[in-house]
Amino acid sequence: MKIFLVAFLICTLQITYSQSKPVAPASTMKSFIDDLLKKMTIDEKIGQLTLFTSDMAVTGPTVREEYKKDITSGRCGSIFNAYTPAFTKQLQDMAMQTRLKIPLLFGYDVIHGHKTIFPIPLGEACSWDLAAMERSAQIAAKEAAADGLHWTYSPMVDIVRDPRWGRVAESSGEDPWLGAKIAQAKVRGYQGNGKPNNEQVLACVKHFALYGGAEAGRDYNTVDMSRRAMFETYLVPYKAAIDAGVATVMSSFNEIDGIPATGNKWLLTDLLRKQWGFKGFVVSDYTSINEMINHGVITNESEAGALALNAGLDMDMQGAIYSNHLKKLIAEKKVSMATLDASVRRVLEAKYILGLFQDPYKYVSEQRAQMNIFTAEHNTESFEAARRSIVLLKNDKVLPLHNNSSVALIGPLADNKKELIGNWSAAGDYKRAVSVRDAMVGSGSVRGIKVRYAKGANITDDPVLMQKLNNYGGELTKDSLNPQQLIEQAIAVAQQSDVVVAVLGESQGMSGEAASRSEIGIPSNQQVLLKALVATGKPVVLVLMNGRPLTLQWEQDNVAAIVETWFGGTQAGNAIRSVLYGEYNPSGKLTMTFPRSVGQIPIYYSAKNTGRPMDLNNKYSSKYLDIPNTPLYPFGYGLSYTTFQYSDISVDKNTLGKTGTVTVSVSVSNNGSYDGEEVVQMYIRDPVASVARPLKQLRGFKKINISKGATEKISFNLSVEDFKFYDKDMKWDYEAGDVFVYIGTNSSDVKEIKIRLVK
Ligand code: NOJ
Repeated sequence: MKIFLVAFLICTLQITYSQSKPVAPASTMKSFIDDLLKKMTIDEKIGQLTLFTSDMAVTGPTVREEYKKDITSGRCGSIFNAYTPAFTKQLQDMAMQTRLKIPLLFGYDVIHGHKTIFPIPLGEACSWDLAAMERSAQIAAKEAAADGLHWTYSPMVDIVRDPRWGRVAESSGEDPWLGAKIAQAKVRGYQGNGKPNNEQVLACVKHFALYGGAEAGRDYNTVDMSRRAMFETYLVPYKAAIDAGVATVMSSFNEIDGIPATGNKWLLTDLLRKQWGFKGFVVSDYTSINEMINHGVITNESEAGALALNAGLDMDMQGAIYSNHLKKLIAEKKVSMATLDASVRRVLEAKYILGLFQDPYKYVSEQRAQMNIFTAEHNTESFEAARRSIVLLKNDKVLPLHNNSSVALIGPLADNKKELIGNWSAAGDYKRAVSVRDAMVGSGSVRGIKVRYAKGANITDDPVLMQKLNNYGGELTKDSLNPQQLIEQAIAVAQQSDVVVAVLGESQGMSGEAASRSEIGIPSNQQVLLKALVATGKPVVLVLMNGRPLTLQWEQDNVAAIVETWFGGTQAGNAIRSVLYGEYNPSGKLTMTFPRSVGQIPIYYSAKNTGRPMDLNNKYSSKYLDIPNTPLYPFGYGLSYTTFQYSDISVDKNTLGKTGTVTVSVSVSNNGSYDGEEVVQMYIRDPVASVARPLKQLRGFKKINISKGATEKISFNLSVEDFKFYDKDMKWDYEAGDVFVYIGTNSSDVKEIKIRLVK
């Protein structure tokens, strides 16, 4: 009995570390926080609005050396870039030494998995599998929470239409309707029902707002857009996340109509809180309060602090502006005590909701860290997510590979683990990842097939680029063989094999934050390799790893097959193998348009008709002299090993009024020779309205499995809600008249039917 008791006590201590508890919470959150606020000094309040990075990981330009002293003196209430039970406990112990023992909140960029890494968000979105996206967020939360974390800086829901911008990798693509659904799935996955247990974390929707509109795709650049574009397109997914109950919001680096988002009262208070009813707290992005000086809207840090807090920006990430200036601003009455208290209350509420006042060590558990991280179940989910994210872009009868073909596995990304977990895989351990080579050779020994490997090229031969990437953890290397020798080796291997699998693309550092590119092809030295491989006459399967749409016109014209795998995460190699060998029939569809050339950017499916739509016989129409207007691969595009045929679009009634729905149906037949999944997509168009409408807008999709030889009838219900838009007075309504509904396999290839909207 005694032994049991001692064991129980040790175990309890190990699990919760709850030896020093703060004030016990009163009956309601409000009365508890009212009481606490009364006890707090101004310095303690400012501390709650201050967030510093630890020195464990670096996600921005500065580290505050003194952050530990700030914690012990109550001048820092939240920490990011600190995880593991041991380290978070150590820091939480410091907070427990402060007068009021207000627990620290630990945040981190858990973007596509914590330790078990899932595909980059742009890739995962291409699975069009909302339930799987919710599960991957759940798993990320479970692992993060087991590692001491309370709060993830995800989901990133910026709408992206410029693939030069490296951060498209973190987004779910170009479409607001789909983006909204994904945003909500992610929020549910991270937060559960809004009362997180110790396997859930708070989510943070970012970057509020319009960050994806950066001009010329250059990170941190100016955004300038109409209110209509904001409300109809760019703001939609943030609003969806708010409606799903996201706990926190991160402001963006960009300006909105001349005023930086971080100091934009219209954005952070009028829209976010008053109009949308957001109740949580807003955190700045990394030093974005300070950066308002560079934006040119204020002259010094003190003014920046006043502008931000008065605008509704509650927590200062890494800028130390509130910490250094807020007390004086209060004394000078440039910021009111009521404003300060309102912000502090929001932060305390988040800590309360997490249960940290009851137990500041609620998320500290070595035992959970061991049990909940890198589990077999998480690996399986990551594998499924990775293969469902893969998009087959071209297939000239070469895939799936035959088990008895000999394979030349070539390319700098074929035997690489570091790159395939992708950017923003912050705590991810790439050594746990499965490379394509490991997966192929492993399966080769099982199948008795022969896989010969040659690197063929470095990821890049550009020394300047290599240096830039390596300055921030790139670890890119130059092979001891020169480029020509590498290519010769690869050709020799290709010549001995039946088929070439060339694994090429970007390094993970070529996309993500501060990773814009002006040319978005495969790096030029890899193109040289690819051309040499094609010249051997062997069929070439191009397996791509990259964080953005690439320009692939030459590849489309010359290689036998193209498989877009993004950065697939921990299980990427196994996922790729399973698609190449037809163990899994690819079902991913692009959520971002692939341009033919950089000159077409921005390019997206929901464009408008213009007054002079393209007409090849008319010089004075909207087009290029040198290329078609169409993209290389449109939004929603992706092939399968089988073929799906669409027919018989029909509607149950021809008119739709204020109430009720119409049902539009189509038959989809699998007339190929494999079972397969298809993402059936439904779009609408209002061809004549008081305000010009896009040529197509996604309004529904269904991902369904159709056995070979089978035909399924797929139906979608539509109501007038689906046809509403902002009219010329920015009133949200629909207009009477004929509209089109389209159903098809991608945004370009659809069947059409007309219905009439009546008032
Ligand atoms: C800057 C990035 O813009 C943001 O997405 C990230 O969450 C923060 N740094 C913290 O690392």
